[in-house]
Amino acid sequence: MDKLQIQGGTRLDGDVRISGAKNAALPIIAAGLLQEGPVTIGNVPHLKDVTTMISLLARMGVSVTVGEKMQVEVDPGPIHDFVAPYELVKTMRASILVLGPLLARFGRATVSLPGGCAIGARPVNLHVEGLRAMGAEIEIEGGYIRAKASRLRGARLVLDTVTVTGTENLMMAATLAEGRTVIENAAREPEVVDLAHFLVKMGAQITGVGSDTLVIDGVDRLHGCSYDVLPDRIETGTYLVAGAITGGRVRARNTRPDHLDAVLAKLREAGAVVTTGADWVEVDMQGRRPRAVDIRTAPYPAFPTDMQAQFAALNCVAEGVGTVIETIFENRYMHMLELERLGADIRIEGHTAVIHGVPHLSGAPVMATDLRASASLVIAGLVAQGTTDVERIYHIDRGYECIEEKLSGLGAQIRRV
Ligand code: EPZ
Repeated sequence: MDKLQIQGGTRLDGDVRISGAKNAALPIIAAGLLQEGPVTIGNVPHLKDVTTMISLLARMGVSVTVGEKMQVEVDPGPIHDFVAPYELVKTMRASILVLGPLLARFGRATVSLPGGCAIGARPVNLHVEGLRAMGAEIEIEGGYIRAKASRLRGARLVLDTVTVTGTENLMMAATLAEGRTVIENAAREPEVVDLAHFLVKMGAQITGVGSDTLVIDGVDRLHGCSYDVLPDRIETGTYLVAGAITGGRVRARNTRPDHLDAVLAKLREAGAVVTTGADWVEVDMQGRRPRAVDIRTAPYPAFPTDMQAQFAALNCVAEGVGTVIETIFENRYMHMLELERLGADIRIEGHTAVIHGVPHLSGAPVMATDLRASASLVIAGLVAQGTTDVERIYHIDRGYECIEEKLSGLGAQIRRV
């Protein structure tokens, strides 16, 4: 079982190149099921979750080829199976993203319920209810969603909770449905926008992209295209916080600063000098200790839940008291318990984590529980005195391409053992 071993104390300094966004690549690859050509998808990050999605499509008979620069070509022509089995779905919940496309294009799908995960119950009721409203017949039995539809028809859907993959599944399904679908209270995350742009490039008719009301007019078929996935805003934010916590300077290149307004505002509040260009953003802490900040997560464009754990780590060594309130997931505080093992002073009162900054953390073995929690432990290890071993790093490999190489390039003392 791999782990990352970090010697704390080095101030990061340098540039890091950001990869394509995992949470855009996954729905876009799944959307390849909808069209009748091949599609070529570029800037795909080389991550475990992407490999899982490719395996899922390939086992259905879809032709998925990966080029030398991770160009992924998807041609659903040879598809012969419409099942997403439990043994794959349990390793990656985003497999649920094949449900909408399979139903819309082929009229049937059998997808394992994703089940919960470390950060919460993660139900998919809104996906199922929305597809039922569009005319799908869906039974849930034996841990599987069994769906069929002769042809989906447009409907007006009001989502009572902002759901990223729920919005994505329903938007994909609507592109081939009969008539107009309106999705109210839709998610506005940049990854949802990126998927919408990809669908439109394949011939879908979607308006309201980027707003909380999506209007999709169904068409008879979608055609192939080439498309590059947008840069990963959460990977960007993670490296910027790594720079800030060490008092250093990190420039993230090949990224979209305009997707990080809420995160950059909090980094400025923590005392960092933040400068941006068209496709880069730099954080310079100028050797200072960060100031504690208050974080409250909410759907985009507010502060992203996927950056919460990273800022909790920053607050652990900041000057003053910072609070963290997680409003999206019911159990996304596991990293707090691991940070305490490094010497952090954290009290959880209801839904609020109150973090008193301490002068320094001390290295220790810690355990990752989810993707972003593991990132926060690596970040804390960068400043903890001595050695920090982050275990169960298969979580990290699901969402961060070459993390030890990228951090080493910034001067960190980190290795995979
Ligand atoms: C997406 O998960 C991301 N994953 C998550 O990133 C991210 O944390 C999350 O959105 C929130 O931004 C991908 O895009 C692959 P939700 P998703 O549906 O779509 C409730 C990472 O680290 N809900 O927006 O599964 C749900 O319980 C991952 O890369 C329902 O109640 O999240 C949660 O409380 C972790 N019923 C809230 O909505 C439903 O049918 C938001 O969940 C669906 C969701």
